[in-house]
Amino acid sequence: MKKKLNVGMIGCGFMGRVHSNAYRRVPNFFDVEYEPVLKAVCDQNEERLKNFADTWGYESTETDWRKLVERADIDVVEICVPNFLHNEIAIAAAEQGKMVITEKPLARTGAEAEPMVKAVEKAGVHNTVTYNYRRIPAVSLAKQLIDEGKLGKIFHYRANFLQDWTISPDVPQGGKDVWRLDVNAAGSGVLGDLLAHCIDTAIWLNGSISNLSGMTETFVKERQHTETGKVEPVGIDDACTFMCRFQNGSLGLFESTRYARGHKALYTFEINGEHASIKWDLHNLQWLEWFDHTVEGRQRGWSSIHVTDPGDHPYMDRYWVPGLIIGFEHSFVHHAADFLQAVAKGEPCHPTFRDALETQKVCDSVQKSAKSGAWEKV
Ligand SMILES: NC(=O)c1ccc[n+]([C@@H]2O[C@H](COP(=O)([O-])OP(=O)(O)OC[C@H]3O[C@@H](n4cnc5c(N)ncnc54)[C@H](O)[C@@H]3O)[C@@H](O)[C@H]2O)c1
Repeated sequence: MKKKLNVGMIGCGFMGRVHSNAYRRVPNFFDVEYEPVLKAVCDQNEERLKNFADTWGYESTETDWRKLVERADIDVVEICVPNFLHNEIAIAAAEQGKMVITEKPLARTGAEAEPMVKAVEKAGVHNTVTYNYRRIPAVSLAKQLIDEGKLGKIFHYRANFLQDWTISPDVPQGGKDVWRLDVNAAGSGVLGDLLAHCIDTAIWLNGSISNLSGMTETFVKERQHTETGKVEPVGIDDACTFMCRFQNGSLGLFESTRYARGHKALYTFEINGEHASIKWDLHNLQWLEWFDHTVEGRQRGWSSIHVTDPGDHPYMDRYWVPGLIIGFEHSFVHHAADFLQAVAKGEPCHPTFRDALETQKVCDSVQKSAKSGAWEKV
């Protein structure tokens, strides 16, 4: 008989769906000691809430997140709401002794994130941040290859996250669907929304970033605010790039934008080491591109690894037969499974709040450098 873990989900939007789907699938694919129970879901939008609870099979609903957090029958609080709410909910949940899972970024700034880390550590509760790309099997394979030393000394790390959905000045800012464009709700633009993913993966694969030089731009300076109806200044970065030095001596280049016409969610990274190089692309997420310089010269060249082998590849033993792919949503299934496993073993599930604070500090330094025009330490 499995132990039950009661989930309280806050937020019925994009990530609320993705996380609910993950909990539904985990017991079918992973043999974990805990069985997640979709106990309660909360959203301030009542119509969306009711439909959501019916669709995913939540046992009950709340319209006030404080009530959900205080409920004795909730074990783990899931924060899937806009960034400005993460701090208050996470601290309240930790104070109630609940485990906390929050969506990325941990908070709007490092200063806002620090007390969240303190709160979960003081309460001694399990915590993690859903930087999900770590758990795409091809990205997990990259981690294995790097940790085994197959790349040797790493020289370069390059990452991009490109979109194109805010090019029109008619896109409004703020409110229900476009809170990401409102600096008060989001904290930053593509930096916290997109580049934070790249930074988390980079720190995981290549270690800490020591110093950096960043640049941000807001191409559309004013947009109508959905809540006030007025045209207001835009406070977020539309595009953000930075170059950096990693503590291991390698150099990094990062770029994110919502102004790369033709790109919807193109997250790519490339790592160049002494013996080998690796490339990955979210649009072809099951492939890992691999160049191995240790191979005899005549046969040397880029090869494409189809990361679908149950016998060889991370997480793939849970699914189908070799050659058959899984997708974006499975990275969240894997995160949920790893979280439940970590709870069962009494171990941390990475990235923890403390791990994610490091990403937040890199973001802070990028903003600082973009303002000062100088190199900044992280
Ligand atoms: N890991 C990823 O790949 C990924 C992708 C998208 C979003 N995110 C993160 O997930 C979080 C949510 O983003 P989203 O895309 O799901 O947003 P969304 O706008 O689709 O959904 C947010 C939901 O929160 C609800 N909400 C807002 N204020 C609330 C309150 N006070 N109480 C209860 N409910 C409230 C809204 O009604 C909405 O249903 C953000 O932090 C975002 O950065 C992560």
